[in-house]
Amino acid sequence: MTTRRSLHTPHQISPTERDFVSEPDSATLDLDAFPAGFAWGTATSAYQIEGAVAEDGRAPSIWDTFAHTPGATDNGDHGDTACDHYHRWPEDIALMKELGTDAYRLSVAWPRVLPGGDGPVNTAGLDFYDRLVDGLLDAGVTPSVTLYHWDLPQALQDRTETARGGWTERATAERFAHYASVVAARLGDRVGQWATLNEPLCSAWIGHLEGRMAPGWTDLTAAVRASYHLLLGHGLATAAVRAAAPGARVGLVTNHSTVEPASTRPEDVAAAVRADGHTNRWWLDPVYGRGFPADLRELYGVELPERPGDAETIAAPLDWHGLNYYFPVTVADDPAGPVPYAREVRLPGVPRTGMDWQIDAGGLEAFLLRLTEEYGVSRLYVTENGSAFPDTVAPDGRIDDPERARYLEQHLAACARALRKGAPLAGYYAWSLLDNFEWAYGYDKRFGLVHVDYATQRRTVKASGRRYADIIRAHRTRTG
Ligand code: FCB
Repeated sequence: MTTRRSLHTPHQISPTERDFVSEPDSATLDLDAFPAGFAWGTATSAYQIEGAVAEDGRAPSIWDTFAHTPGATDNGDHGDTACDHYHRWPEDIALMKELGTDAYRLSVAWPRVLPGGDGPVNTAGLDFYDRLVDGLLDAGVTPSVTLYHWDLPQALQDRTETARGGWTERATAERFAHYASVVAARLGDRVGQWATLNEPLCSAWIGHLEGRMAPGWTDLTAAVRASYHLLLGHGLATAAVRAAAPGARVGLVTNHSTVEPASTRPEDVAAAVRADGHTNRWWLDPVYGRGFPADLRELYGVELPERPGDAETIAAPLDWHGLNYYFPVTVADDPAGPVPYAREVRLPGVPRTGMDWQIDAGGLEAFLLRLTEEYGVSRLYVTENGSAFPDTVAPDGRIDDPERARYLEQHLAACARALRKGAPLAGYYAWSLLDNFEWAYGYDKRFGLVHVDYATQRRTVKASGRRYADIIRAHRTRTG
């Protein structure tokens, strides 16, 4: 889930209709732009697919609590069973093979490994990921492990020490680093690629400011403190993973949108700059050694819990950066609205996905180039990209989903263009392998390349999944 209130890249390709009108289909996809060894993958996250929330010593996370809060999710959906991946992972690895993917991005559930957040390690929880990693490697699929995809142990949320608990506490960042070292020590002999956090923007802004995700707060001070501690936790965990697993390649996964002003009015242009700051610069500038942006500090008016040395910790050099990209936004000034006082404007005639997200692959190309040129990222992955549309299962069981396939093709074409222009893109992970628990939207929003019938847990590869397999096969044939 990404916020719709996202924002601006001043210098980029604007979201115009050309991107969806004249985009090439896969027959003309510039496959030669993708280097040999390019990682073709899919992505998932623990709470969205695993289920088995009370098995083998797992304790609740903030998402168990949030999802079971009346009114918090559509239809009251929750992840108690989800895709039952905890039991069906061998079948899911077989699906990855069927798609021809050679990479898989998964997340580890902190409350399976350290049910109390810190304290005793739950070996049974770690054993699950151990088996999963071995299964992937046996199948020739390279795992990329994300340590935090939003499922903070509830015990840490409840531990109020100096603030409101959870990520508002500095101790949570330190405990995250400890947890990271425990996981890296166990899996680091087989897992080379690690991400600390997934989309800290969603944890901080959507979870603590907009209230649409766990822990469901609308508290600017808490949100800003959480954003700081998330990035501090990222820096501390980067060092912890490297210490526990020498040779580990550590990165960060952030979500971004290009942001355009709705008009040339100075107020709208300024709104776009604020929105770009809130969505993009706040998360990238400190990580790439520029510190937290001054204009945003002023806008939030919340003192950061800074200590000497933190800036360097947060800016630890990374081995790679993961971009999650779904949509661009166009904003207008909204002085009476919430921070950052910019509201999304709907452009007429622009296609949207089932999430009501604008479709424009040009934003992906633009953001890959921005990370390359403005932030000097030397190794990039698209760690998530995909679309939800309502699916229809035909009487013969097939799922024909041309819109999802087209979204995939358009965005791969954008990757090819970015590669041609010099972006050091090393892989693409489609979101998602499976239909799954789409957070506050529950199970109705289907992002999978593989359909899941939740009543039977039957998996069926959709036409978009077969399209992805064709593209991967065609690329391999060329590069050998
Ligand atoms: C991203 C999340 C992912 C999924 C997609 C649709 O923001 O990282 O878990 O929900 O959106």
